Amino acid sequence: MVPRLQTATAEDAERIRVLLELSGLPTSDLTASKPEFIVAYEHAELIGAGALQRFAAVALLRSVAVAPHRRASGLGRLIVQELERRARAADVTQLVLLTQAARRFFERQGYRAIERQSVPQAVQASEEFRSLCPTSATCMAKTLIRP
Ligand SMILES: CC(C)(COP(=O)(O)OP(=O)(O)OC[C@H]1O[C@@H](n2cnc3c(N)ncnc32)[C@H](O)[C@@H]1OP(=O)(O)O)[C@@H](O)C(=O)NCCC(=O)NCCS
Repeated sequence: MVPRLQTATAEDAERIRVLLELSGLPTSDLTASKPEFIVAYEHAELIGAGALQRFAAVALLRSVAVAPHRRASGLGRLIVQELERRARAADVTQLVLLTQAARRFFERQGYRAIERQSVPQAVQASEEFRSLCPTSATCMAKTLIRP
């Protein structure tokens, strides 16, 4: 069965935090940065999450994580596709991300490595860019074409 993706609520915050920590992703800026999360549940268990953090026409695609026992079944791709759909609907024209371990996962979905310096200043100034992800992380981007 394909899990349903839905907008996260305040009640999901703690489960999201646990999943991100389990997945080795940053959580310390979540309260301040207020990314817009989507979540996937199976029964009462949170099995996937991902978020957009908007900066006008550019958004950070971040915090994409799938519970370890549910990986490699297409859920990660579904989460990215849904975030892209929501970004297009909000007139976002470019998605930017940082990743350490999932470069190929994102390449398969049309993201390409770019120089960090080419990212808009507002995004570079975000906590995720400034301190949470080490400089060794790959910066990637995808231009969104409106349907
Ligand atoms: C990256 C992650 C979200 C992928 O989720 P998933 O549900 O396992 O991915 P999917 O099953 O949708 O995989 C889609 C495709 O990407 C490939 N893929 C998945 N993870 C990959 C990885 N880490 N490296 C290379 N390829 C990967 C799959 O083999 C699949 O290939 P296909 O197109 O041939 O079918 C998951 O591994 C995860 O939570 N990782 C830890 C957190 C993380 O690094 N997040 C990314 C930074 S925001």
